[in-house]
Amino acid sequence: MRIISTNSYEQMSVMAAGMIAAQVLLKPDCVLGLATGSSPIGAYQELIRMHEKKLVDFSQVKTVNLDEYCGLEPTNPQSYRYFMNKTLFEHINIDLRNTFLPDGMAENAGKESRRYQALVEKLGGADLQLLGIGRNGHIGFNEPNDYFTRDVHEEKLTQSTIEANSRLFGEGETVPTTAITMGIGTIMKADKIVLIAGADKAEIVQEALYGKVTPQVPASVLQLHKDVTVITCR
Ligand code: F6R
Repeated sequence: MRIISTNSYEQMSVMAAGMIAAQVLLKPDCVLGLATGSSPIGAYQELIRMHEKKLVDFSQVKTVNLDEYCGLEPTNPQSYRYFMNKTLFEHINIDLRNTFLPDGMAENAGKESRRYQALVEKLGGADLQLLGIGRNGHIGFNEPNDYFTRDVHEEKLTQSTIEANSRLFGEGETVPTTAITMGIGTIMKADKIVLIAGADKAEIVQEALYGKVTPQVPASVLQLHKDVTVITCR
């Protein structure tokens, strides 16, 4: 595991974007595993800047996102599909048909989970998976539990995650309580993993990287992966 400590969110974002761009340069038709939330926004902005300077070409890239809220239409500004379109996809030369997220509106979440797992597998898994980390140690929406989940599944969000997510929802908007997420097994099959964590995550990052490997701290499983880069900032 490589751990890179940077001095600012901007520096962390530039480094993460550099690793993603390097992946695309090395394998132009790679599969990128992407995350949503506050942590990757700066990296996505940097990728847009690199694309505008013609430093990176996304025309053959495919993407698979970690997760999507259940019950939100893709046109809902709180949905992760909307976030990805607005924050990254609409600003780079990626074919939207090559960008994938679970369908949060699927009537049968179990069936949709199996479909998304099969899709990720058919694409050969992520060449590089970008991750954020929740304050409770979740990756994707794999919440602390008694066991590590394997495949894509529907997850009931913990109260602390619902509260953390509610900061992005307006008054009167209901914060979803479930999501479809890649499982720990799906995430661990990525060839490379890049985890980015802001200063507010210092404590949980310490516990996840140096503590016991336990499903109570889902990100601790990353200690067992062969190629993880953690980029933190002060
Ligand atoms: C997002 C995701 C989550 C977030 C985590 C941190 O797709 O899967 O695991 O990465 O909740 O969120 P932020 O970056 O908003 O602190």
